[in-house]
Order: sequence, then structure tokens, then C-alpha cells
Amino acid sequence: MANDIKTEVNKRRTFAIISHPDAGKTTITEQLLLFSGAIREKGTVKAKGKKSNKFAKSDWMDIEKQRGISVTSSVMQVDYDGCQVNILDTPGHEDFSEDTYRTLMAVDAAVMVVDTGKGIEPQTKRLFEVVSHRGIPIFTFMNKLDRDGREPLDLVSELEEVLGIDAYLMNWPMGMGKNLLGLYDLYNQRVELRNSETDEADVYIDLDESGQVSGDHQFTQSTIYSQALEDAQLLHEAGNPFDRELINQGKLTPVFFGSALTGFGVQTFFDAFIDLAPAPGPTRLADDQIIQPDDPELSGFIFKIQANMNPAHRDRIAFIRLASGKFEKGMNVTLERTGKTLRLAHTTQFMADTREEVAEAFAGDIIGLYDTGQLQIGDSIYEGKQAIKFADLPQFTPELFMRVSPKNVLKQKSFYKGIEQLVQEGAIQLYKTYHTNEFIVGAVGQLQFEVFQHRLLHEYHSEVDMIPMGHRIARWIDPADLDPKMSSSRNLLVKDRFDQPVFLFENTFAEHWFKDKYPEIQLESLL
Ligand code: G4P
Repeated sequence: MANDIKTEVNKRRTFAIISHPDAGKTTITEQLLLFSGAIREKGTVKAKGKKSNKFAKSDWMDIEKQRGISVTSSVMQVDYDGCQVNILDTPGHEDFSEDTYRTLMAVDAAVMVVDTGKGIEPQTKRLFEVVSHRGIPIFTFMNKLDRDGREPLDLVSELEEVLGIDAYLMNWPMGMGKNLLGLYDLYNQRVELRNSETDEADVYIDLDESGQVSGDHQFTQSTIYSQALEDAQLLHEAGNPFDRELINQGKLTPVFFGSALTGFGVQTFFDAFIDLAPAPGPTRLADDQIIQPDDPELSGFIFKIQANMNPAHRDRIAFIRLASGKFEKGMNVTLERTGKTLRLAHTTQFMADTREEVAEAFAGDIIGLYDTGQLQIGDSIYEGKQAIKFADLPQFTPELFMRVSPKNVLKQKSFYKGIEQLVQEGAIQLYKTYHTNEFIVGAVGQLQFEVFQHRLLHEYHSEVDMIPMGHRIARWIDPADLDPKMSSSRNLLVKDRFDQPVFLFENTFAEHWFKDKYPEIQLESLL
């Protein structure tokens, strides 16, 4: 049994793609689905221009109906090269929320897609920081090589400087845009030639011992090739050496070049990714013990809850990352927080184009559990008698704030109840002004406010006024250091839900002003 589980677990690759909007996350996901045979045509992943009302984007049912399968459909599972690949979505744009960060707590690796025309953009950097904190492998795909972009060397040094990670060049572009000849593949010791008619790679030529292509090939006469060869040799001598251990620890990122749109270099990337990305490993428990994935008893934690905002479909889906064991439909587990038995009858797994009932799943997989409101983000579930509680999910520093108050003062009770439950569920963060206790909600994305307001109204019958605030930065301070004179027109002193003091600043200028004035005071942020 444990052997079975081990074999299955070793086939799993569970990862997320992180990028700034428009870098090509959807396009590369689609290529993976195409290679794996999960879809047959492009355009299935995201049907553009079909946004209806503003809630539709986050409405589960609507998303499925309107966008076919959308990459926002959270988890996709495909077979690739004998592996079960689970791709977890990290929604960007207007769908960005704390769930985006929390999803990164449920993966074993991340793929970072960078637009070669733009380099490292803000959202990539923020998502990178969250992933990097976990010390998991990060693979970089430098995308849009079919266009003229920035100098590859420039991109790589920006990556290393801005993100503070070392790069290992898996391959190196021979030209770009219209002049793209192909890839000089250092990892596989071959050249991958672009077929200028189909734009796909169909010619691989092995390198000889000196790193040159063997045989007589026209392209070797071009200056593009000789330049790439020179660069590659320089990288070989002066670049970081390949080190699997450092890759596993997330300290060295393998860098690939290619074009998600044309598919060039994508297969090479995926093949190496499947090879190098780890299978699910141990998971940390609240008491600092660990649980191994091949432990025969099922356990898992909830990292995301997707509430359906359509009042006709009140169902919610709790996403569970399985940490150990084997899941079988209908089995009973214990919900650690309440000690109650939970029957895993209505579960779902996520295929490329359908949602299917899951019959079985293994550690590393994600299952969706239909929930009527008894589950919370961060909950642990386990099979057997030995209680299992996973380490708490981190809290993330909010970057947007709104003042919130009930429209109808006579309905304060439902307002308080709604806020309390939604905060507990992890849907939003709650702050209060330090002395006057006015309510402020904090979020990392605008969508969280919309979901919050909508759910308060529909689930708790509480209509609220929400006033956006100009503050963007939250910094915690040790209560012992707090001095009333620190509070000024350049900041706002609030307390979090555990009554810890927090300063809100409108910008880094205001934060720096504070730091200059009180250099001895430590300002802390969450993750
Ligand atoms: P995202 O999910 O990261 O937000 O990005 P997405 O894949 O939707 O890609 C954003 C835009 O960039 C799309 O163009 C897409 O076609 C284009 N793109 C993605 N990869 C490549 C690439 O390798 N080369 C080039 N040249 N373009 C790429 P769009 O015009 O916004 O949408 P569409 O009408 O083409 O779908």
C-alpha cells in the first residue's frame, strides 16, 4: 500500500505559474495542455472579450460557462510524459487576491514567466518573494522570443539583481524576433533550430565536445550563430554552474528562452521541468514535526475557498492540498479544528475541460470539496486516530484599505457577525482605528473588497458603505515602542484583529520619513 502511494506520489508535479499580467502565463499553460493532449486546439483556455457583469469573473459557475475552461479555473490536472501534472492558477489582474498568494503555499515548484520585452515586472517580483520565502524550486521561462526584446544578458543580470537569485542558463537564444535562428541548448548539449515556416522546433543538432555543432550546416556561417556561440562559451566559463541542490532550495533558477505563442522552446522547457521539478515532499506540521507524502493515512490542508457569488448556487469549494496518503471517494476524515467527522463524498478534481468527481487522488494532488460553510482556510483534515494539524498558512501584508460601515445602523448585529466570519475565513483582513475603533478592511487585491461586500449583503443581509483610503503600506510595530507622538498626519495608527498596533502609510516617502524620524524603531511587515 505504502509502496503504491510512493509510486503515485513520485509521478506528481504540482506547480504554479507566476508572472506579471500579459507575460504569457495563459499561453504557456495552453501549450502544456496541447502537448499533453488535454486540449486539441488553441483558444480553449481563455476565450477573450467575454466578460459580463463584474462579479462574473470570480463566479465559479459563470467562469466555467463563459470562458470554457479558464485558467482562473484554479487547478488543472494533465498527464505529461508519464507524470500527473497539477497546475495551480495564480490569478492576476482584477482577480488578484490573498488566495493568489495562498495558492503558492500548496505547490512544490513555480514557473516564472518573464516577458523578454519588459524584464522583471512588479507583480512577478511580489509573487517571486512569496515563493522564494518557501525555498522551493523556481524555473524561469523568458518568453516572447519571437519578438525583438531586450538583450538576453541584460535580462539575466536584471533577474539576478532585482530578485536576488542566481541563474543557470539552460539554453541561450541565437538571435531573436525575425532573426531568431534557434536555441543553443547548454543543458541538452544540442542546438534547437527554429523552423521559420512553422515556427516550431523540429531540428535538433548535437554539439560536439568543443561545444560546436557537428556536420555541415548553413546557419553556422551566420554572425548570429557565432555570437551565440561566443556568449554560450562565456556563460559556460563565467556563469553559475549547474547545481541540483541549489535548484531544489530555490537559490538557483534554471533559465530557459522561448516563445509560448509559437511553441518554440516550450517542449524543451517542459521536458527539463518535469525532469528537474521535485515530486511532493514532506509537509510541516504545527508542532514542527513533518509528515511524509507516502504516509498511508490521508491528510491535507485547505489553502483556498472559492465562494460562489451567485445566490442561486450557494455552494463553495474548498481546495485541499493532499499532504499524505491516498484519497478515495466517500472516505471519512476528521476536521481537526472541530474534531468532527467529514465525509469526503462530494469532491471534484480539475481536468482540462471538465470538472469530474474524483475517485482517487494522492499526496501532492489538489481536490475540491463542496462545502456548506463549515470549512475555513488553513483547516487540516486527517484520516485515522492521530490528530494532524498543519503549520498555519502565512498572513500577507495588505496593500489596499477601505473604511467600512453599515448603511443601516439598526442592522449592526448582522454587520459584526458577517465581518467576523469573513475575516476568520480569510476572505479579508480587519483593522480598527487605534482609539476610535472604526472598521478598516485590508486586502492585496481589489477583488477581495468586491467579494467581501457582495457576501456581506447576500449571506449576512448587511449593506455597507466602503470608502477607499490612500494608504498602501502597513507596518507592524512592537507595542512597547509605541509612543502617541508617532501618530501624525503622515500616517494612520490602527490595530489588527489581535490588537497589535500597525501604522498605515500612503507611500514609501511617508514610511521613510517615519524611519528617519525614529531610526531605532523596527517596522515589520507580514509576508
Ligand atoms: P497572461 O496570461 O500572462 O496575462 O498572458 P497571455 O498568455 O494572455 O498573453 C498576453 C499577450 O501576450 C497575448 O496577446 C498573447 O498572445 C501574447 N503572447 C504570449 N506569449 C507570447 C509569445 O511568446 N510571443 C508573442 N509575440 N506574444 C505572446 P494579446 O494580443 O493580448 O491577446 P491575443 O488576442 O493574442 O490572445
